[in-house]
Amino acid sequence: MTEETKNAAPAAADYELFPADYFTPLDLAQIFPGTAPLEIDIGCGDGAFLVAQAERFPERNYLGLEKLAGRVWRGCKKASRLGLTNIRFLRIESSYALQHLLPPASTGMVHLLFPDPWPKSKHRRRRMVTPEFLALVHRLLLPEGRFRIVTDQQNYFEATRRLIAADMFREIDPAPEEIFPITTFEKHFLADGAAIHRLVLRKVG
Ligand SMILES: C[S@@+](CC[C@H](N)C(=O)[O-])C[C@H]1O[C@@H](n2cnc3c(N)ncnc32)[C@H](O)[C@@H]1O
Repeated sequence: MTEETKNAAPAAADYELFPADYFTPLDLAQIFPGTAPLEIDIGCGDGAFLVAQAERFPERNYLGLEKLAGRVWRGCKKASRLGLTNIRFLRIESSYALQHLLPPASTGMVHLLFPDPWPKSKHRRRRMVTPEFLALVHRLLLPEGRFRIVTDQQNYFEATRRLIAADMFREIDPAPEEIFPITTFEKHFLADGAAIHRLVLRKVG
């Protein structure tokens, strides 16, 4: 937030993060003053999920990573309408952010919700979840941190499960009392009657 906007309702543009440089890890304490836990949504789309979470839990902080400018802007506008102070969006290629901008052991929960499915076998290597990506998420999480993956693609779900290294993550049951907001893509898949697959991993090691 700028000095001028600290006491006024933040404008949509204030919700987009522009790192001072792209070669130094972000100073999260400066972006989110205080000691509140941080959750990160990778490929957050229009931010509907993240904004709903941020509204429900003002005592936590939220960072959305998304490569498409229009979607980042939609998320910023949603956050601004609600006057939230605990959420930011970063337009970026998420693996770059995980590798270079996000400090290790900086978040208690990472969400990957309906990653692009790339269903054709010739396109599968474009999928986000790879062993390298899982290692980056592992590095980003605090000890015991959780990684939630949700998809409508059974094949992607099973392929992801096969990639999980036992010395990095343990699959756990979703906490029944923990109800998460529905994402924009989830809304469409549910309307089409698609099955939704959910995986929750806890960091080990
Ligand atoms: C199928 S959409 C799901 C969006 C949102 N999570 C939801 O459930 O409504 C996948 C999103 O991931 C974003 N995305 C895909 N690859 C990405 C990458 N490498 N870095 C950042 N965002 C990415 C896309 O632009 C898109 O908005």
